Amino acid sequence: MAEVHLGHVFHIAGQPVVADASAALVSIPDGALVVADGRIAYCGDRDAVPAEFASARIRDHRPGFLLPGFVDTHIHFPQTYAGDSYGGGQLLEWLEGCIFPAEARLSDPDFARRIATEFCDRRIAAGTTAAMVFGSAFPHAQDALFSETRRRGLRIVSGRGIQTVGPASAGALITSEADALRLTRQEIDTWHAADTNDVATARLHVAIVPRFSLSVTAETLKGLGELYDSVRDRGVYVHTHLNENNRPGTGEIDTVKRLFGVESYLDTYDGKFLPGSSVGGSSLLGRRTILAHCVHCSDAELARMAETGTSIAHCPVSQLFLGSGTMPWRRTVASGVNIAAGTDFGGGDEWLIPRVLADAFKVHISEPGCDSVSMHPAEMLFLGTLAGARALDMEDRFGNFDVGKEADVVVVDPGRTPALASAVDYGVRSSDPAMAAQQTLFALLMGLREPAISEVYVQGRRLDNGPR
Ligand code: GUN
Ligand code: ZN
Repeated sequence: MAEVHLGHVFHIAGQPVVADASAALVSIPDGALVVADGRIAYCGDRDAVPAEFASARIRDHRPGFLLPGFVDTHIHFPQTYAGDSYGGGQLLEWLEGCIFPAEARLSDPDFARRIATEFCDRRIAAGTTAAMVFGSAFPHAQDALFSETRRRGLRIVSGRGIQTVGPASAGALITSEADALRLTRQEIDTWHAADTNDVATARLHVAIVPRFSLSVTAETLKGLGELYDSVRDRGVYVHTHLNENNRPGTGEIDTVKRLFGVESYLDTYDGKFLPGSSVGGSSLLGRRTILAHCVHCSDAELARMAETGTSIAHCPVSQLFLGSGTMPWRRTVASGVNIAAGTDFGGGDEWLIPRVLADAFKVHISEPGCDSVSMHPAEMLFLGTLAGARALDMEDRFGNFDVGKEADVVVVDPGRTPALASAVDYGVRSSDPAMAAQQTLFALLMGLREPAISEVYVQGRRLDNGPR
């Protein structure tokens, strides 16, 4: 049975790169989305809905908005209760003092089940229909995450966080080299496309997730390269962190370069993890690889990511929280690498992708001198939707409302939050309809908070919101 959703539709049509997002912005104030068999059958003006859908059920969301489901390309499941943890320092101190102990609590299976439920609650409340989820070290916690995600109807790519070395506080998260490979392979065999047995239609996918280069050895990276070679053609993903903290001498980047003796941090993930950046194994880069942060990349690193189709999860909320700096927008875009949005919760302290887009706008307009850029509202929407689907290599399935795509929809009812309603109703708008649409979209993305998200759909099916 088809359904017709009525509201103001915004989406980024087609397959643009970020620089062309403004030309691809679609705004249909009196719009309709027809969903049939879980897919978009029509997206256009309400008064032009094809006659074949005349008897379809109407879901009237007016004066609300219809947006594509948000895609979070970097979020930490075992940090669900670790947001706003006071670390007394930047990344490495925060990990050691707050995050490793918080993640160790998932060793308790009851706790793991509880946190998996809350993680899904938070995702639905935030309209995050698809996500690359940095997983727990514990297989039972990953089982809980995948089971609950399947039950709730969300999309997920996730893998257990792999650590073979680390400080004492990470002790519970560290395994032997052999177990790191064994457990990761086991997770792939158990959960990759487990819902449909077909990677092209699945909502559940598995990634190989070394925490970052400081959590693994050259031996681990060699083993993971071999493992990836053996599962790449099954559509398995890779996810990790890159170039986040550049504190001189003792920060993440200098420590990676010193310990591995490599010329660039990226080399450690590109098979060149031996001293002098010599080749020691296979590359982990590719179209199904997402690297979080990438704040301090060299031009050569960006070029290599673009060449391999690797994507960046841009996480400005987290970068502000951890003092990691600002990813240079113009230079990173110019490299051609795909950039999508990530909350990095609990490094970030927001679950909502539009909050990430809002901080992206603020940090990039604040870049010094000629680097300052005022992001176009369409670029912001692109980052949080279509670019995320592209980063997950599932752009052919979701990310916008092109006809034939699977219907992932976020319904926004501004009336649920007075501040947003006022901004939408009374904000000054240009007499030029195109500019007025951009102004409304900007107000919506900047002012959106979870309570204004009234309904969330994946593949046309409404998700149960759970507690808020
Ligand atoms: N680098 C390694 N682990 C983490 C983590 O949990 N969060 C962030 N932001 N960076 C990391
Ligand atoms: Zn992270």
